[in-house]
Amino acid sequence: MKKLVLLFFSVLCVVNISATTLMSPNQKLKLIFDIKDSVPVYSLLFKDKAVVEQSIMGFDLYDGPDLSTGFVLSEVKFSEYNDFWTPVLGQYDTIYNRCNACLVSLKQPSTGREMKIEFRLFDEGLGFRYIFPRQPELAYFRIFKELTQFAMSGDHTAFWIPGSFDTNEYFYYTTKLSKINAEEGDGRGISTHKVFDKRGVQTPLMMKTSKGLYINIFEAALVDYPAMALIYNRRKQTFEAALAPSPIDSISAFMQTPCNTPWRTVMVTEKAEDILASNMILNLNEPCKIYDTDWIKPMKYVGIWWEMHVPGRGSWNYADEPNIKLADTDWKSLKPNGRHSANTENAKRYIDFAAKHGFDGVLVEGWNVGWEDWSGNWKEDVFDFVTPYPDFDVYEIYQYAAQRGVKMIMHHETSGAASNYERHIDEAFDFMKRYGYPAVKTGYVGRIIPRGEMHDGQWMVNHYNRVIAKAADKQIMVDAHEPVRPTGLCRTYPNLLACEAARGNEFNAWSAGNPPEHETILPFTRLLGGGMDYTPGIFEIKMEHYQPGNPCQVHTTIAKQLALYVTMYSPLQMAADLPENYEKYLDAFQFIKDVECDWQDTKILEAEPGDYITIARQGKKSGNWFVGAITDENARKAKIDFDFLDPKTKYVAVVYSDAPDADWKANPKAYEINTYIVTDKSSAKIKLAPGGGCAISIRPATDEDLEKKYKKL
Ligand code: NOJ
Ligand code: CA
Repeated sequence: MKKLVLLFFSVLCVVNISATTLMSPNQKLKLIFDIKDSVPVYSLLFKDKAVVEQSIMGFDLYDGPDLSTGFVLSEVKFSEYNDFWTPVLGQYDTIYNRCNACLVSLKQPSTGREMKIEFRLFDEGLGFRYIFPRQPELAYFRIFKELTQFAMSGDHTAFWIPGSFDTNEYFYYTTKLSKINAEEGDGRGISTHKVFDKRGVQTPLMMKTSKGLYINIFEAALVDYPAMALIYNRRKQTFEAALAPSPIDSISAFMQTPCNTPWRTVMVTEKAEDILASNMILNLNEPCKIYDTDWIKPMKYVGIWWEMHVPGRGSWNYADEPNIKLADTDWKSLKPNGRHSANTENAKRYIDFAAKHGFDGVLVEGWNVGWEDWSGNWKEDVFDFVTPYPDFDVYEIYQYAAQRGVKMIMHHETSGAASNYERHIDEAFDFMKRYGYPAVKTGYVGRIIPRGEMHDGQWMVNHYNRVIAKAADKQIMVDAHEPVRPTGLCRTYPNLLACEAARGNEFNAWSAGNPPEHETILPFTRLLGGGMDYTPGIFEIKMEHYQPGNPCQVHTTIAKQLALYVTMYSPLQMAADLPENYEKYLDAFQFIKDVECDWQDTKILEAEPGDYITIARQGKKSGNWFVGAITDENARKAKIDFDFLDPKTKYVAVVYSDAPDADWKANPKAYEINTYIVTDKSSAKIKLAPGGGCAISIRPATDEDLEKKYKKL
């Protein structure tokens, strides 16, 4: 009998000789790495139940033997992280980085090549990346396909947008995994950008299991590699990595050792709130590379922008003639179309408005020549980024803004001509510095010119990152539109204030728009990688205001537009509506004036993807608290416990809520403003209209406030 038992153990050891396990600090998540039939595999368990079933890892190469099989384990090293750091801008003043890690070294004896996989296991999820040390056998290689899989343990509910290598500007589908059909969702993005596979979805992909677990698949620190989308294999109930190929030869990534892939991440939490509160993506990014960060500031801004998106108002172009040559056109001789918004007088009007209401900046779009020819024509040399239209006096505007303490945000729409932008960028950034512009909004509308690279491919990822690094050298802050989705790189380059990379508020001006649930999903997906320039704050909700009979509208109430300043994190926030619309609702506008966008602390009070989100945040500037609560198309009550407040202080809370008869469609502009005294013991249930929301600003009460005898909440 004794002999038998011994034999049994030695068999176990042989079978399991390569299995490596790692536990999360709270012991709830377990990673198992193994080599099965010489293929690296991993699985992820939550409380001993598989969340990611055994899944393969590796690569098919364009040439030479693949990095997919024939591996043996040569070494395993364990380590742990328990530290903290301070983001320059962010949702918390201190971010804790606590995880257990292991580095497995694999050898491929038939080729002599080496590949390592590094795992980091946090309380709320797993990150892993492939590392390729410098080695003569693998000095340079080309990835045809990344084989990483994520085998799901059930037919979960997924909040997905169609997989495209060029755009994320879709609204969400909520279906079971087995019902993913990206083609059905196509057409709601940009017409020139197609889905890459009908089984394809973008990351971050948010899911919920039938047992109520929340799972999110994404990536972190996307550098010198294509972005990772996913293809769902229904039969195997498994996601496979999908990387944008380069347009000429279908190669996804050109690699030169030493190098590594971005982190692949799987978050797993019991509460939806913990996904929103997680800093895992930031923690997997490299520390800040900018030595002096004093010039990096949060910004609330207004701009010459919405008036070009709403029907029948302004235009980006100066004249209406197409095919105008940038170099040899005498712009002064062209006939202006009479609608050109970026003119000196209008810019001054916005600067005055910004100064009067305490905004940091003013964005001006359509200031530079080229807009007559900008989109859809595959022309490279449309913009040079330094030649203003004749009615836009850069020097005068510079002086006017500087005298009023307003910072200007320059717009660089590349119309997808990224290499043209690189040719002009030094001159363009120097021009900005000369005229006092500390921030740039970049844009990449349409196909990437000239070679048809993809927005999410390795070439473009490198382009976006080069622009951010160059901007950092010149002390310029960046807001990138139509970029690859951000993956936490704002930790390394905090001058990357915000990105678009999702379907923003602008779609409400000229399309079917964003359904009321849209903003309850984005924080669980797109926002995990960094702030979004969503451009909230639209008060004139219906486009029929501008054009009788126009059916387009913002799919929220005014109160929800206010709440978005809190629920949609971004250190760059626009008050997007026209100054004249704010003048009509100055009492509601007060919230936008007061709210901050850089935070000392954040509390996720309640959240459910696709349904509702309530968040409280404490501003870094004033220490005051701001609360935002939003709902989808269903009315509901936001539950707010004010126990995040200091117990020794009495506060005044100004509550901007939906009026009893408010409704995003029938009556979106009906709001109420009430003032109360609150303490850490207060709690409230606030009614949110269908498509509605509620915003609260909270500051310590003065003696005068207390005398006013505001009601207790
Ligand atoms: C799309 C951007 O998202 C929008 O903000 C901008 O106004 C237009 N492109 C023009 O560049
Ligand atoms: Ca819903």
